[in-house]
Amino acid sequence: MSFTFKDFPAACDDLRRDVLAGLAARPKSIPPKYFYDEAGCRLFESICAQPEYTLTRTEEALLRDRLGDIAATIGPVDCIVEPGAGECAKVRLLLEALRPPHLVVLDIAGAPLAAAAEPLSRDYPGLAVTALGMDFIHDLEAATPWLPAGRRLIYYPGSSIGNFAPDAATALLTRFRQLAGAEGQLLIGFDLKKDPQRLHAAYNDAAGITAAFNLNLLERLNRELDADFDLAHFRHYAFYNPTAGRIEMHLVSLAGQHVTVAGRRFNFALGETLHTEDSYKFRRDEFSAIATNAGWQLAAEWEHDGFAIHLYRGSR
Ligand SMILES: C[S@@+](CC[C@H](N)C(=O)[O-])C[C@H]1O[C@@H](n2cnc3c(N)ncnc32)[C@H](O)[C@@H]1O
Repeated sequence: MSFTFKDFPAACDDLRRDVLAGLAARPKSIPPKYFYDEAGCRLFESICAQPEYTLTRTEEALLRDRLGDIAATIGPVDCIVEPGAGECAKVRLLLEALRPPHLVVLDIAGAPLAAAAEPLSRDYPGLAVTALGMDFIHDLEAATPWLPAGRRLIYYPGSSIGNFAPDAATALLTRFRQLAGAEGQLLIGFDLKKDPQRLHAAYNDAAGITAAFNLNLLERLNRELDADFDLAHFRHYAFYNPTAGRIEMHLVSLAGQHVTVAGRRFNFALGETLHTEDSYKFRRDEFSAIATNAGWQLAAEWEHDGFAIHLYRGSR
């Protein structure tokens, strides 16, 4: 029916500030939200198709298989809101089952989001689609004026919540609670703790796509911050840390080297790491405790092959 796109500026200044701060820190780190330039978005889609990375396919299969039950438990909604919607693939299943009049999708990668979201307004007659190119960590509350009143469903699939340490995950789910409003619900997908070898394989695919995704971050900094990273001198290194319950993704320096970024010089010692992402894995009780602390109450849950989908309603 209708399609609206709004891009929220400032991402470029944030990139410079966050990267310079992250490279000055010990250990060095860069927030994972900066993976997603256009090449990063394409590489992520390709990761999802790798045989070792079953997360996306499992979540989609679970959603498809249990869609009738999930939709009946959710009930009628006026608006679906998806933060970090990417290619807007899984939400299509919910649109078919719930037929809401409004969809609001948010993503830091504004142009790819607009390209993915615009066809939804044609494919679902009567659906008003709003795409907001924004960093929701920064700007989530700025989405509120774009949301119609009534029953809102926040949809946060893909185990994206695993990119946040437990305290930060609680803080983000608290903000989702505010955004959802009094009658709001949260449908969220997350990866469960499982055989660490299986987790290890998922982030070390044989085709090297996750490695390319990780290294693409340096390519982005070379292009957008006038940096001079030599990609051949960094190695993708991902492993499951069972003490912390997370996959850690790093770029390890293969030599002692200097790198210039936005006019500033940084030293990397041989073997020094640039930490690029954490992906926390959860037991169901660990996850529901995080959501409960954020003001949500578990309403229903579905599980398949090491992946869980939970439905929450407001508890206060
Ligand atoms: C792992 S992908 C998941 C995509 C999709 N939700 C799915 O389940 O397949 C993460 C998505 O969130 C977006 N993203 C990551 N951090 C973000 C942030 N702080 N603000 C807005 N979008 C973000 C990325 O651009 C990417 O499209």
